[in-house]
Order: sequence, then C-alpha cells, then structure tokens
Amino acid sequence: MAVAVAAMKQAPDLVLPSLTTGYILADLGIVQGTEFAGWDVSPLSLAESVPRQGVLPEEVWRARADLLSRTEIKKPPSSSLSLGEQVERLIHDLADFKTLYPGSRPVLVDLLPACGEADLGQFDRLEQLLEGADPSVMPDLPYAMAAVLSGVPVVNFTSNPVEAPAIVREAELRGVPLAGRDGKTGQTYFKVVLASALRARNLRVEGWYSLNILGNEDGRNLHEPGRAKGKIANKTQVLDGVLGYRVGEGREAPCHKVHIDYYPPRGDAKEAWDVIDFTGLFGLPMSLRVNLLARDSVLAAPLVIDLARWMIALQEAGRGGLVPELAFYFKRPLGQDPPLRFQDQLRALERLGEQCRRRR
Ligand SMILES: NC(=O)c1ccc[n+]([C@@H]2O[C@H](COP(=O)([O-])OP(=O)(O)OC[C@H]3O[C@@H](n4cnc5c(N)ncnc54)[C@H](O)[C@@H]3O)[C@@H](O)[C@H]2O)c1
Repeated sequence: MAVAVAAMKQAPDLVLPSLTTGYILADLGIVQGTEFAGWDVSPLSLAESVPRQGVLPEEVWRARADLLSRTEIKKPPSSSLSLGEQVERLIHDLADFKTLYPGSRPVLVDLLPACGEADLGQFDRLEQLLEGADPSVMPDLPYAMAAVLSGVPVVNFTSNPVEAPAIVREAELRGVPLAGRDGKTGQTYFKVVLASALRARNLRVEGWYSLNILGNEDGRNLHEPGRAKGKIANKTQVLDGVLGYRVGEGREAPCHKVHIDYYPPRGDAKEAWDVIDFTGLFGLPMSLRVNLLARDSVLAAPLVIDLARWMIALQEAGRGGLVPELAFYFKRPLGQDPPLRFQDQLRALERLGEQCRRRR
C-alpha cells in the first residue's frame, strides 16, 4: 500500500490503470498529491518493513525507498490508556497529520489484524461506548471514533465489526462517510461474479467448497479460529444473498463450506480453490473448478486507494454515514439494502460516481 502510494507520486501511470476510480472518479484531483501516513505497533520503519515482508520484488520498492523512509508512522496510544484517553491521543495525532499536510483531505483506512469476537451492537450513544466498550478486544475502536469525531471518513477494510450504532449515528450527524466491511479482493470477488452468472442463467448451485491457503501475517493471524470466525462468516453469507436461496437447503450438513489455512511457504502469494456443483435442465449435475493464484497485497492496495478516493468524493458531495453503494469492494457490505449481485454492484458504483460529480 505504502509503495503503491509512493509509486503514484513518482509515476501515476504505473498505478492509475489498476484503479477502478481511475475512470469512475477521473476528475477527483491530482493523484501525485496523495500522501500516506498512519500508526503501527511494529518497531520497524516502513523502509525496513517492506523488504522484510518480501511481498514486492526489490526493483519495485528500492526505487521508492526514499519516499518510504520519509513516511510518518506514529506509535499507537498505549493499550493501558482508557478508551477515552486513546481517542483523545488519536484526535491529537490526526490534527498533527493535518498540520503536516496542510489543505489535505484525510481518510482513515482500518488495516488492523482481524480481532476476536466482539459485538458493539448495544452501544447507541458515544458516551455508552466510552464507558462500556473494551478497546483491548477491538483495537480498531479508538481509531474509528477519533476519525469520526475529527470529521475524517473511515474505510473498514477488516472483518472487525467496529461500526457501532453510536459511531454510525455520529458519522451521519457530522456528514462523515463510513465504508465497510472486509475488503473483497480475491476469492470472494470471483465468487460474487460467478454466482451472479450462474443465477442469471438459472443454473442452480447445489454446493460450493472454497479453500484458501496463505502464508502472510494476515494468514498467521487468521490461523486462530476466534479471529477467523468473522471473516469466514462474511465469506459464507455472501453466496446465499447473490443466489436468492440457501445453498444445500434441505440437506443435513452445510453445502457451502469455506476454509482458510495458514501455509507459510506461500507468503503473500495466496492460492484459492473452488469446487462448484450445480444443476441445469432436468436437474442434471455439472461442476466447475476455479484455481486462483493471487497476490494478496497486490489485489488489496488498489482497492484501498480506490476507497480512500471514494471517501473524499463522497464527503465533498455531502454524504455521511454508511455507503451501501460501495458493496462492490466489500465481502460484508454495510448500510441499507446493499446491492448483492455483481451487475447491480457495478451499476451502483457507476451511479454513485455520477451523483458525486453532480453534487461536487
Ligand atoms: N487481500 C488483503 O490483503 C485483505 C483482504 C481483505 C481484508 N483484509 C484485512 O485487512 C487487514 C490488514 O491486512 P494485512 O494483510 O495488511 O495484515 P497485516 O497483519 O500484514 O498488517 C496489520 C498491521 O497492523 C499493525 N497493527 C497491529 N495492531 C495495531 C494497533 N493496535 N495499532 C496500529 N497498528 C497495529 C501490525 O503491526 C501490522 O503492520 C486484516 O484485517 C485483513 O484481514 C486484507
């Protein structure tokens, strides 16, 4: 992500063709002006961390090493502070970033690791959140609160359910857009495309078996079942919504199965297999295999940049609260009646682009 932003500053034509907003929001502003900053618990600087992650070949990051070493990465607030104190510290940090980049239009993108089970659904008011929520369960919470209170839009790229009713309400009142949840980068993206195509031809899906192997930090974290639960639920729920029926209805055991397995040798080069069993005329069975050989971060970085650009356009157009029209980008799209089928998601995105252009 940091390398993609650095590359955009030096040579936008290297990155722009990989963005959806390259054509939908073509008039948004000078892409070379995009800056990257943030927080990380890691003691390593970005310039040290990028080669260690081994995601990009040396010739790609080396040319941007200078820009990486100048990127401002702050230490997160100590976890020994109360939620309110953490929020205050982060509001202060956000103000610092705004001073560092005068005239900027900041967006907060949540890229924290998947957390364990958490439910903030009972918190309707900020005061209740501050009193009752435990930030050690979901470290994303102080970031989202600080951003909304600072008028900064939030993209939730994680599976963590940080969108408490109190946060959504505050974002609506303040005209701050919120987008989420859980970036739809690889297997689930193609699942939505294929399921939409099968549905359009009235081919009935009888079963869908999905397996992912990945060996990066995200994979290691998701190895813990409690942390993978939210993501597996998002990956599973998506299918019935697209098809309009529950796959395997009437059978004893689930017929849509999703597994995520941590497999270190693959690093960021994740692999996914899908076995799709479906029937056609006279109920005769057919089957399809998909084997995706992808790069997790290479798929994710353009989406993160796209979403940051959408947030700026939406805020300028006076839009606040959840944005279901951005369902194209998420496994678990939030907001009222998000489009579920691929063709509806793409159409909603294009319409949203037109609305932004008209209102700006
Ligand atoms: N293709 C994708 O990469 C993809 C797709 C969909 C969703 N996601 C989600 O996006 C998130 C990021 O993915 P990733 O592959 O970059 O994960 P990662 O584990 O490589 O990166 C997480 C980063 O967060 C930092 N961090 C941990 N706790 C922190 C805290 N309290 N404050 C600040 N920083 C903290 C870590 O040091 C690390 O640098 C994950 O939740 C992942 O599930 C990723």
